[in-house]
Amino acid sequence: MFICSCRAVTDRQIKASIDSGNDNLHAIMEDTGAGDCCGSCQEDMLQMILDSLPPRAEQQEANLQLH
Ligand code: FES
Repeated sequence: MFICSCRAVTDRQIKASIDSGNDNLHAIMEDTGAGDCCGSCQEDMLQMILDSLPPRAEQQEANLQLH
């Protein structure tokens, strides 16, 4: 499934980039080429980064959003 239709980058490519250690949007964009055209895929990539975090970190993120 394409995450970035502008650059034809799939969810598998984004996941592989995250798994290789790219833990922020800028690094994933540089690694895959995704996200530098219309930018509409950036929110999906951010969600994939959040989904990759351990549960404890997700909880901390949720707590941060509450304050
Ligand atoms: S969909 Fe990724 S830059 Fe347009």
